[in-house]
Amino acid sequence: MTIKTATLNGVATIEIARPEKKNAITQAMYGQLAAALDAAREDKAVRAVLLTGQPGIFTSGNDIDDFVKRPASLEQSPSFTFMKALMGCDKPVIAAVTGAAIGIGTTMLLHCDFVYVSDEARLAMPFVSLGLVPEFASSLIAPQLMGNVRAAEKLLLGDPFTGADAVECGIASAVLPASEVVKHARRIAERFNALPPNAVRETKRLLRRGRPAALLEETIAIEGKAFGACLQSPEAKEAFSAFFEKRKPDFSKF
Ligand code: COA
Repeated sequence: MTIKTATLNGVATIEIARPEKKNAITQAMYGQLAAALDAAREDKAVRAVLLTGQPGIFTSGNDIDDFVKRPASLEQSPSFTFMKALMGCDKPVIAAVTGAAIGIGTTMLLHCDFVYVSDEARLAMPFVSLGLVPEFASSLIAPQLMGNVRAAEKLLLGDPFTGADAVECGIASAVLPASEVVKHARRIAERFNALPPNAVRETKRLLRRGRPAALLEETIAIEGKAFGACLQSPEAKEAFSAFFEKRKPDFSKF
């Protein structure tokens, strides 16, 4: 099983569990993640969602093999369905970042309500290094939250950053010892059992008004078009081959 789900004490836990591939997310896994989020949204007993990974790894991002095999029709792809479900989730989503969060692993955090990061975790959005561009409105939200110059370090250079940096940039709530991060995130999630769900839902909606749905959709569509084109590019092909051949990519010929 690559996505594990369990509901306990008002909290739907969704766990990415493919440690042998560093929790790389396949198309099938995005489908499972979307279904789990939709189920949590529908279940009246669920007051909050806890999204987490495995010890030492949150997710290494999109499965690069899937990038190679399925480059077409991005808008219909399960990753879109998952991110739409995440953005549309009207219950609080709490992320427990248990380790590296790469690519979509960091992008998805921009759409969570609380983000607790292990002190051993590194975050990164190395789309450019893979010949790609940012996705799911990260090109809009990252500069809004952290300012243009810090967003450039993270999105143009793809520099990895720590949980402390993420807190400083306004994209994470707190850094915790690795052994504490899931427990702490769960405690925060369980607090919603004592709060009135309608007021929570309405407040979450109000907090998101600075990110109007129409602007997000438009940005995601523009990014998606560029991303789809980049996926087919010689630059991306070189980057993907280099990853699987465990060598540095050579972009000198482009
Ligand atoms: N897609 C597909 N397979 C992946 C993967 C990914 N995103 N990330 C890791 N894997 C696979 C590796 O190919 C390797 O498979 P193998 O055992 O069959 O060779 C296995 O997972 C272990 O990865 P490895 O790189 O050996 O682990 P590590 O501990 O040295 O490094 C990471 C961990 C996460 C830093 C590194 O795997 C990495 O950088 N992954 C790619 C991240 C990325 O660029 N994601 C896409 C962003 S858009």
